[in-house]
Amino acid sequence: MRRSAKITAPLLAALGAAFSAVAAEKPVSWFHDITPVFRRSCNGCHNPNKLKGEVDTSTYAGFLKAGKHGPSFVAGDPAKSLVLEEVAGKEPSMPKEGDPLSPAEVALVERWIREGAKDDTPADAYSTKLKEPPTYLSPPVTTAVAFSADGRWLAVAGYHEVFLLDAGDLALKARLVGESPRIEALAFTADSRRLAVAGGAPARFGEIEVWDPATAQQERSFKVGSDSLFGVSWSPDGSKLAFGGADKTVRVLSSTDGKELMKFDNHSDWVFRTTWLDDGQRLLSGSRDRAMKLINTANGQFIDDVNKLLEPVVSMARHPKQEWAAYGGAEGGVRAYKMQENQDRTSGNNDVNLVREFERQPGPVQALAYSPDGLLLAAGSVGGEVRVYKTDDGKRAATCGGHGGAVFALAFSPDGKRLVTAGFDGLVRVFDPADGKVRAVLDPVPPEAMRKPVASAN
Ligand code: HEC
Repeated sequence: MRRSAKITAPLLAALGAAFSAVAAEKPVSWFHDITPVFRRSCNGCHNPNKLKGEVDTSTYAGFLKAGKHGPSFVAGDPAKSLVLEEVAGKEPSMPKEGDPLSPAEVALVERWIREGAKDDTPADAYSTKLKEPPTYLSPPVTTAVAFSADGRWLAVAGYHEVFLLDAGDLALKARLVGESPRIEALAFTADSRRLAVAGGAPARFGEIEVWDPATAQQERSFKVGSDSLFGVSWSPDGSKLAFGGADKTVRVLSSTDGKELMKFDNHSDWVFRTTWLDDGQRLLSGSRDRAMKLINTANGQFIDDVNKLLEPVVSMARHPKQEWAAYGGAEGGVRAYKMQENQDRTSGNNDVNLVREFERQPGPVQALAYSPDGLLLAAGSVGGEVRVYKTDDGKRAATCGGHGGAVFALAFSPDGKRLVTAGFDGLVRVFDPADGKVRAVLDPVPPEAMRKPVASAN
């Protein structure tokens, strides 16, 4: 009977009583009255990424779509509206967890439906476009840094923007303000003429932005799916962009028109990293599901897992000279692999492609980078330390400390003489990878973007 969407007479009477209190007021607004209630009590389970009962309460368009047992509401007819049956009554079945809606809130929903269930969502309600560049109270957590191969630029991820620095004197050259509040990954093309930015707004949209660093202009923006994108990488010729997502997919887009050339959904968890093989056709993806998967991008076919599945893969670095990739794991592991099929995997418990296993790090390894000559591998962990290893014997060459919290991003300068680190404290540090000594500490946020903390009232 629960699914019949018939509301009993006593229930309607109770709703009516609550309703009379607000009857004289202006019509109930979906956007101003209902969405705040749903955001608090419903959207956690009913959004485009978590469609419990196939219901999305997070937007009008989503709520309009029928759930598993039909439409959630019938405009003008509360008695036929399933949502009221779910939220009203003594022991409402929704929200499934947490406090029930108050009688006044239930009455609002009832009245909104009776008044025609109109959509008054403003056109720009879900836009994340900024009218002004962002301002900060403290440096933003830095999730990504990248040098251009020509040694001209250092890109540093901020909030809603990328700080473009002169790689030489570290002076701020431009603020690349885009639509994505969260920036998750940065990558320059091999010719240093384009910068790709991956990110998005969690549970809203994913976005890839393509910038021209020389003019500081955004050339393209591709909206993809409804959640953040990670681990963007350019194909060797710069014609394609690969990335992973919170939606567990790996995708490849044409970098000029954004056309989706491949969508791969063999991963069973978030995909954090991608990197290309030299042929520009095969791609390696790294996921929280513990696998690094080799993919043929020409037809979207899964080739093989290159690694034994030991721990979630949270960072990855491509060896500059060999077809190897190292990953950093959620349990502190750092392992380098050949990017090839794993033929003996089934015969015995072999990890046949493993080239080297490095010292275990004191926390999840969120950042990993090879030096340009391939002789060093740097690992940054949530523990706040960056350790630099020699790739030939795996011995530690240097330790870079002093970070105020987790390290999320690492990059070697193209000449290999500097190692840039960043993370939780939002500061950019420059180390000498030979001895681990810090050479510079920089706050990338320009003074005019820093807000003064608001003084207490009166
Ligand atoms: C903790 C998770 C959770 C929360 C919070 C939650 N729901 Fe649900 N909802 C579910 C699940 C799971 C189902 C699937 C049916 C079931 O198991 O009862 C569901 C089903 C529904 C359905 C029926 C869909 C159908 O067609 O079968 C409606 C309508 C609904 N929820 C509305 C709401 C509203 C409105 C709220 C907030 C007041 C809410 N839910 C809060 C988990 C939740």
